[in-house]
Amino acid sequence: MSTALLSQLYPAHLETLQNRARIALERGGFDHLVIAAGQPRYQFLDDLPYPFQVNPHFKQWLPVTRAPGSWLVITPGHKPRLIYLQPHDYWHVVPEAPAGYWVEHFDIVVVREAAAAAAHLPADPARCAIVGEDTAAVATHCPNNPEAVLNYLHFHRAWKTGYELAMMRVASHLGARAHRAAEAAFRDGASEYAIQMAYLGAARETENELPYSNIVCLNEHGAVLHYTNLERNPPLVSHSLLIDAGASFHGYACDITRTYAGADAAEFRELVDAVDGAQRGFCARVRAGASYPELHVHAHHVLAGILRDHGFIRMSAESAVESGVSSAFFPHGLGHYIGLQVHDVGGFQAAESGGTLARPAGHPYLRLTRTIEAGQVMTIEPGIYFIDLLLAELKQNPAAGDVVWDKVDAFRKYGGVRIEDDVACTAGDPENLTRDAFAALK
Ligand code: GLY
Ligand code: MN
Ligand code: MN
Repeated sequence: MSTALLSQLYPAHLETLQNRARIALERGGFDHLVIAAGQPRYQFLDDLPYPFQVNPHFKQWLPVTRAPGSWLVITPGHKPRLIYLQPHDYWHVVPEAPAGYWVEHFDIVVVREAAAAAAHLPADPARCAIVGEDTAAVATHCPNNPEAVLNYLHFHRAWKTGYELAMMRVASHLGARAHRAAEAAFRDGASEYAIQMAYLGAARETENELPYSNIVCLNEHGAVLHYTNLERNPPLVSHSLLIDAGASFHGYACDITRTYAGADAAEFRELVDAVDGAQRGFCARVRAGASYPELHVHAHHVLAGILRDHGFIRMSAESAVESGVSSAFFPHGLGHYIGLQVHDVGGFQAAESGGTLARPAGHPYLRLTRTIEAGQVMTIEPGIYFIDLLLAELKQNPAAGDVVWDKVDAFRKYGGVRIEDDVACTAGDPENLTRDAFAALK
């Protein structure tokens, strides 16, 4: 990503954030939006900090993710102020001096200790919407996280600026490159741990820099939706790899899942290909005005059709969905918003003033219930799994007689299939950040 492009896109991004901040402050009745980067958290009875995670509100304004103790002050009509903590410290890495395309847009004050920030914050905390964790408080400036302000900001965060989309394209590129390396390691018979090492090496990120803990599953481990054990030894035979792994760029995430069949697993490859084809169809439906929960329910019907066509069930797709059979094989939501956080905020929000859009009955894990709009980015991640716990429950379902158990049992050793892309809705055809990134590697 060229610096010239970033400096071109950044002013419009800031203007969007300034406008959102101004309206959010009006809604809450405040004069200043004050955002704490946050403070490291310490392990119980220890002086060891957990890896620092910056407040997502902070990193939306500037590409700075490692500045604990820093603050932003946004006052409508004024240049935003960055209070930047650069301690005199020879034990830890001190944040670098501010540099880059964003610096000229801020009034920057450097402080040498966390408490010194208070002198540069607006004098009256009662006039401030202070966004952050309690632990970030300095003097009388304690985070109050006003609901009216946060509701407005979180609702609008669903729409990405051109600058944010550019960040997410880079994150997707890093993720795609690393997924390629992971696939090659799998083809070489590597363990989950070695696949993870290949992934990290190609992404050039540490585990703490990833947007979430990678899910690297050989064989039946794919049936554990958030499996993170990273077995050190490879299995005797690697029948399948399900890898759900992301990357970060300037605080923005990608979230990518791919599933591969081993050399001995032609029957599983057919299932992977079918889910992949269905997933492309769902991505094509990421269009302005479409209902995400309806797309999720549509996905259940299509996946149930695959279960029938591949001989796992004998019932129609409709009855598989109605009887809950499809949920035994596809037990999570179709996807979620993504951006500053891998599961970005606001997925259930009814309006900019708040409120909740309920999930459809029978779909307790769906994370996005809003109508899709141009400028929003979401994941599309259907799956079909063979999960012992859910299959045992399915055996008690009156529809169990129409499940082909021999076939289902034969697939337990593969764990499951998930294919996940990050898709931006546009005014026309959707932009698939993930598939574009894989295609650019060729
Ligand atoms: N990586 C977690 C998810 O796909 O939502
Ligand atoms: Mn996801
Ligand atoms: Mn994922």
